[in-house]
Amino acid sequence: MKKIRLDKILGNMGYGSRKELKKIIKYGYVKVDGKIVSKSSIQVNPHESIIEINGERVEYKEYIYIMMNKPQDVISATYDNRHETVIDLLEEKYLVFEPFPMGRLDIDTEGMLIITNDGKLSHEILSPKKHIPKTYYAHVDGRIDEKDIKAFKEGITLDDGYKAKPAQLIIKERGEVSKAELTIYEGKFHQVKRMFEARNKKVTYLKRIAMGNLKLDEGLKLGEYRELTDEELDILRQSMLK
Ligand code: URA
Repeated sequence: MKKIRLDKILGNMGYGSRKELKKIIKYGYVKVDGKIVSKSSIQVNPHESIIEINGERVEYKEYIYIMMNKPQDVISATYDNRHETVIDLLEEKYLVFEPFPMGRLDIDTEGMLIITNDGKLSHEILSPKKHIPKTYYAHVDGRIDEKDIKAFKEGITLDDGYKAKPAQLIIKERGEVSKAELTIYEGKFHQVKRMFEARNKKVTYLKRIAMGNLKLDEGLKLGEYRELTDEELDILRQSMLK
């Protein structure tokens, strides 16, 4: 992790505003590696240095895990020169962690996106070998029926000839526009849309509602996010243990 301004580190950890911290530091309450510091602007690596306030060690957390209900028109990336990214939606206090989205949702897909700086966990969760289920809620132009359920279960062949792993389709509403939940175990490019296309149906709305056993918090409005609880993080980790 790169060096960060001391007042920013302490601000992130909830020790006060920049102005308050300037005073606290000026009055000699803060030590870095055993030495009293006088400037709030000094650059410190919170993982390598010991920071104390009034003799109390500041425990800096290394990893951040955020669940976002991604809205449409926002890109699942850390940087884009045309569109807003999911990182642009985060409060500044999270940016020191250098977070990135765990996998991608299309620009027009909504729903659960985990944003973290834990590269190892992200890599494991996204690894095709782990077969972590991802569940989507979709609106589809056309009637979905039992034949589709069977085809998804047997493995849909995509437009590039790839045969998708068996997936579970649950019909929620039948009609000219059908509503369904689909659970897949891999993450090919535009996979859900392409699976339905292979059945001559067009996805008109897509939302991810779960990853592994972790469900989207439906209390989060589009664009809202919050940190995962320890319990939720365990649920996510447990999704990989098979
Ligand atoms: N499948 C898609 O087609 N789009 C997504 O965003 C996610 C899965």
